Amino acid sequence: MSLIEQAKQKAAFQAVDEHVLPHHRVIGVGSGSTVVHVVTRLLQRDPALNAKTVFVPTSFQSRGLLLDGGLTVGDVEQYPDIDVTIDGADECDSDLNAIKGGGAAHLQEKIVAEAAKKFVIVADYRKDSKVLGEQWKHGVPVEVVPFAWTAVMKKLQALGSKDAKLRMAMKKAGPIVTDNGNFLIDAPFGLIHEPAKLLKDIKLITGVVEVGLFCDMAEIAYFGCEDGSV
Ligand code: A5P
Repeated sequence: MSLIEQAKQKAAFQAVDEHVLPHHRVIGVGSGSTVVHVVTRLLQRDPALNAKTVFVPTSFQSRGLLLDGGLTVGDVEQYPDIDVTIDGADECDSDLNAIKGGGAAHLQEKIVAEAAKKFVIVADYRKDSKVLGEQWKHGVPVEVVPFAWTAVMKKLQALGSKDAKLRMAMKKAGPIVTDNGNFLIDAPFGLIHEPAKLLKDIKLITGVVEVGLFCDMAEIAYFGCEDGSV
């Protein structure tokens, strides 16, 4: 396993061990490659505990991981009170504000994180920064209604994101379509010193569905480090 993968695994395992408690009945599960290790650790728990627990996924990917593991899956409509949600991040600053949405799943991720009593971030050392924008150079993921994408793009440019781009699919002649049927714009803003203000400004643009800035949400973040510590 590569150093980065080991770092992800260590962070994920420790977060599950410390935050998924025997009395918890509803657990939110984020998306991305680090969350694969979260699910692995959940599957190593006492099967009797997992049998009494409902897991709320945040994407097609995490739903698949949970179903493949034989776990019971539910949604926020049925389970609006989640005990704890564990998710990855593209970058997390020293105040635990995060950029998410590199995997195009931040709308459901934010809903499932907000529904939880506790939101825990797991990541490898590359995601750890003082100020958002230091590490993650692709920009803030902004999910938009397809009809509105050019109008939103202009507004993002006016807010200062000169290089905002519609995210294109790798193996399709066209843009990425999210699990919710929307498009995604990646909007770089350089160093983001006031993420909560930027979040508000972008969210006020008509046609924006959700912004991949998670401000004042996480209670704790686990970073797996290069030296094997967390
Ligand atoms: C998905 O949209 C993202 O928010 C992921 O949580 C984020 O990209 C982290 O993914 P990795 O764990 O694969 O780095």
